[in-house]
Amino acid sequence: MAEVTLDLRDRPKAEAYAELKQHVEAVLEGVDDDITAMATMSCLLHHAFGHLWTGFYRVVQPGKLLRVGPYQGTLGCLEITFGKGVCGASAATRETVVVPDVHAFPGHITCDGRSVSEIVVPVFGPNRELMAVLDIDSEHKATFDDVDKRELESLMGWFSRKR
Ligand code: SME
Repeated sequence: MAEVTLDLRDRPKAEAYAELKQHVEAVLEGVDDDITAMATMSCLLHHAFGHLWTGFYRVVQPGKLLRVGPYQGTLGCLEITFGKGVCGASAATRETVVVPDVHAFPGHITCDGRSVSEIVVPVFGPNRELMAVLDIDSEHKATFDDVDKRELESLMGWFSRKR
C-alpha cells in the first residue's frame, strides 16, 4: 500500500497530516538519501492537499544562497538569496514563515502569479545545520495556519534524525 499517492483534501487537517506522516515514513522506510526524501515528500504533500507548488530550496552556500531542489508544480525560480522573499526570510531566520497574503509580504518573489498564500519551513540536518527550506504555495488566501506549521515542522524532522 505504501506506493499509493493519497488525496486527503476531504479530511480534517490534523487527521490528514497524521495519515500523510505515516505514509511518508512507510514509503521512506530504509531510505537514507535526502534528495530521494525531498522528492517523495514533495509528491505526497502536493497531491494530498492539491497545492499549487510544493518543494524544496537547498542551501548551496550557507548563509548566502538557496537553489531549487525536488518540487512539484509550475517552474520555480532557480536560486534565492538568503533574506530575499519568503524562502530567503525563513532561511535567514531559521524559522517557519506563514504568509496569509503574499501581496502583503514585502519582497515576495513571484514564480507563479496564481500564488496567494504560502508557508516556508526550515529543514535541519542532524547537527542543526540548515539544509534546505520547504516551500508550499497555495492559490487560496490564508491556506496555512499553526496546524500546518506544527505538522510540517514535525514531518521535516525526518532530515534531522541520525540515520
Ligand atoms: N514563494 C517564494 C518563491 C519561490 S516560488 O514561489 C516557487 C518566495 O517568495 O520565497
